[in-house]
Amino acid sequence: MSRRRQIYEGKAKILYEGPEPGTLIQYFKDDATAFNADKKGTINGKGVINNRISEYVFTRLAHIGIPTHFVRRLNMREQLVRQVEIVPIEVVLRNVAAGSICKRLGLTEGDPLPHTLIEYYYKDDALGDPLISEEHIACFNWASQEEMQDIASMAIRINDFLCGMFAAVDIRLVDFKLEFGRIYEGDFSRVILADEISPDGCRLWDMKTNDKMDKDRFRQDLGGEEEAYQEVARRLGILQNDDGGPGEVLDMSAHRGRLRGGTKGAAPKPKK
Ligand code: TMP
Repeated sequence: MSRRRQIYEGKAKILYEGPEPGTLIQYFKDDATAFNADKKGTINGKGVINNRISEYVFTRLAHIGIPTHFVRRLNMREQLVRQVEIVPIEVVLRNVAAGSICKRLGLTEGDPLPHTLIEYYYKDDALGDPLISEEHIACFNWASQEEMQDIASMAIRINDFLCGMFAAVDIRLVDFKLEFGRIYEGDFSRVILADEISPDGCRLWDMKTNDKMDKDRFRQDLGGEEEAYQEVARRLGILQNDDGGPGEVLDMSAHRGRLRGGTKGAAPKPKK
């Protein structure tokens, strides 16, 4: 793919110029980072799985009327997306206390929150993506009030839908991050869902055992990250062996015991 013009390289993805104006190709890497890239590593096959999981989630969201940048998957690691102007805000939805909110507010990981929280972070690696309020967003004109209303209402619908989607396969959606982008149509612009939704940017816990099935396995050196990502894809009914992928991608049984991460309870039973 080196003949294509690279537009941007992020920590987990590369964006290339697309085949037509207004499109980009989003390439999913196996690179993993945490703590603002202080910790770096590789999760073998992550790009392939995240490409499929994100395709699946964005397609399901489109079916409930959420506008997204996703056009179609091109191959194992790439998808065609609409080019957007990224709104420089990371939108985090939290259903259960975990991660930075525990540190910030002295909460215990796993405590249910009284209601879903929506948080905004300013997307700036050099500043470590600081937590911001809607006041900051308005003050520095990072997004208009109308855009923020659209973003918040989409984010809440996405959370409700994804909580149900994951609960149906015995996964608790603890928290996740969304990014939105603007598309211009004549004199008007509107915001649509962009980036990706995958175990890189979600906390996903097995409902029965609380086993972590997301990037916290890498952040916290729990091991078994490949198997965890594969198990998420398997439960969602994707990653069938229909694209020439290696057969072992489908077979979690040999690894299921490695999804422990120090929590108690029986290993999740394979479905079907
Ligand atoms: P946090 O608890 O570290 O603030 O993360 C909340 C959620 O947002 C978690 O599911 C991971 C995701 N996230 C990202 O996708 N990218 C980031 O840069 C950060 C800080 C969090």
